[in-house]
Amino acid sequence: MRKLIIASLLLFAPAMLPAAEGPPLQKAHIDLHDQASLQRGAKYFVNYCMGCHSLQYMRYNRLAADLGIDEISLRENLLFGDAKPGDLMENAMRPEDKLKWFGVVVPDLTLVTRWRSPDWVYTYLKSFYLDPTRPFGVNNVLFPLVGMPHALGDLQGQQEPEFVKDAAGKPMVEGVKLIKQGLLSPKEYDAMVRDITAFLTYAGEPIQLERQRLGFYVLLFLAFLFVIAYYMKKEFWKDVH
Ligand code: HEC
Repeated sequence: MRKLIIASLLLFAPAMLPAAEGPPLQKAHIDLHDQASLQRGAKYFVNYCMGCHSLQYMRYNRLAADLGIDEISLRENLLFGDAKPGDLMENAMRPEDKLKWFGVVVPDLTLVTRWRSPDWVYTYLKSFYLDPTRPFGVNNVLFPLVGMPHALGDLQGQQEPEFVKDAAGKPMVEGVKLIKQGLLSPKEYDAMVRDITAFLTYAGEPIQLERQRLGFYVLLFLAFLFVIAYYMKKEFWKDVH
């Protein structure tokens, strides 16, 4: 018995350990029921991210059906290049070219909010800062020596790193400060990044929109069944006494 208790405690041990060290994450506060936010996120993703990243498990028409996007807006706003509605959301860049141009593998982002987290992606998109030693002139607090340019730099503007000294007295980047605003105000930029994060969270598990709706009907059905079962029981047992 005691072994069983210890074993079951060990099972939960990982959950009790403090999370891995790293810069603090900002809360994304996404709302997967906000269809307009998901629609905007999809549009931003196709326009600003799909030149490099794919969503290789997602089809355009699935996305349109889930997010309430009609055929005309799908064709006008979302189809990338000469893609057709039934195609997977892949881009035309060949993996070898990506590797050559960026020196790193450009990851597919279908599952990124699951292997990182929505808060991580949100914070990452807000954490690019100027660093002249890097090939694209930027670095990232959450992803040191990142191989991605700041795809939204024109919109956000330019950020400077803020340093603190670590235990050994070495300077390390702790946060960022906006020094030159881009085309969007900080509030507008946050909203945009939140929409992209919400869209990617949906893309990582499209069924979650469906699951909640379905769960409601399942419970309704069970409640209904309970009433019928109750009266049937009464009927069956009424002569047994
Ligand atoms: C010019 C090409 C390019 C564009 C445009 C681009 N990215 Fe990237 N992205 C990259 C590359 C390359 C990496 C890999 C970085 C590395 O491994 O150092 C990356 C990495 C990432 C990661 C980290 C993935 C991980 O966990 O390792 C996320 C998240 C991400 N990109 C999101 C986005 C989003 C959202 C957009 C659109 C707003 C975008 N990217 C636009 C090239 C790009």
